[in-house]
Amino acid sequence: MTIGDWQWDETLFAGAAPYYRRGRLPYAPGLAEALRDALALDGRGRLLDVGCGPGTLALDLAPLFADVVGVDPDPGMLAEAERVAAETGLNDRTRWILARAEELPSGLGAFTVVTFGQSFHWMDQERVAAAMLRLLRPGGAFVHVADVKTQPKTDLKTKPAAATSGADALPFPPVPYAAVDALVRRYLGPVRRAGRGTLPHGTPGGEAEVLGRACFAGPQRLVVAGGQALERDHDDVVAQVFSLSSSAPHLFGARRAAFEAELRALLAQASPAGRFSERRPGTEVRIWRKEPAPPQS
Ligand SMILES: C[S@@+](CC[C@H](N)C(=O)[O-])C[C@H]1O[C@@H](n2cnc3c(N)ncnc32)[C@H](O)[C@@H]1O
Repeated sequence: MTIGDWQWDETLFAGAAPYYRRGRLPYAPGLAEALRDALALDGRGRLLDVGCGPGTLALDLAPLFADVVGVDPDPGMLAEAERVAAETGLNDRTRWILARAEELPSGLGAFTVVTFGQSFHWMDQERVAAAMLRLLRPGGAFVHVADVKTQPKTDLKTKPAAATSGADALPFPPVPYAAVDALVRRYLGPVRRAGRGTLPHGTPGGEAEVLGRACFAGPQRLVVAGGQALERDHDDVVAQVFSLSSSAPHLFGARRAAFEAELRALLAQASPAGRFSERRPGTEVRIWRKEPAPPQS
């Protein structure tokens, strides 16, 4: 996968996995129920979660399927997914495969649903869309899941600020995202880092055109409401920073401890009580369908 001069490499999320579940804001509550209703899931189908990370979506949706396969090229992410699956009693129906979406092993079988939780933009979309069309059963669904973006997509600055006055007031100050972002840039430079390269213009969109060209029908768009108040502590915000490909631990090299110390000092100044308030983002779901099989004559 290349984007301009940028080329995918296996360090993209290196070292991020242990921080991911704690650091990332969760998808909206009610996501699994919304998908169950929209896709008429009855516990019998098979799910393939591509770019599964630490199993965020796969494990949330696993009770709705008989069999779940998660795929990710980052071994740390899969170790986390496996650990949580065991802890939550879901390892009987979940399987984790170390692979890029572009190089899936043969013999996976056919799936009712394939999900991409904030991962499709990292892939060779044309190639992966064609592979998904082959893997899905007739009538099966390609499901794209992402946080609702309230501002243009850049980085940490995009998160909504917590309200501090009025009826919406939250008890603690907002996470100082702009200052955190400035600190990351001071250490890693002004251009967004990704693996061994840089992504001056971010990752590509264009999913609708790609899936249309691959002959998927859709999309059906659902928005699952967020907005619920969350409390986050300093460790949560540190974990959020290290969970991002643009500020993954490996990028700091020998300066990692110095960066973390400065980050913690910045957070302590922004909230001496050690707490921040934030609202959960909404979750946007786009569902594309593989055409059903024609009726037998
Ligand atoms: C932002 S994380 C999303 C994790 C999870 N799906 C979620 O919703 O929280 C993106 C994931 O995509 C994976 N990824 C990146 N490039 C990939 C590729 N070419 N094929 C499969 N997965 C990939 C990364 O390793 C990472 O775990």
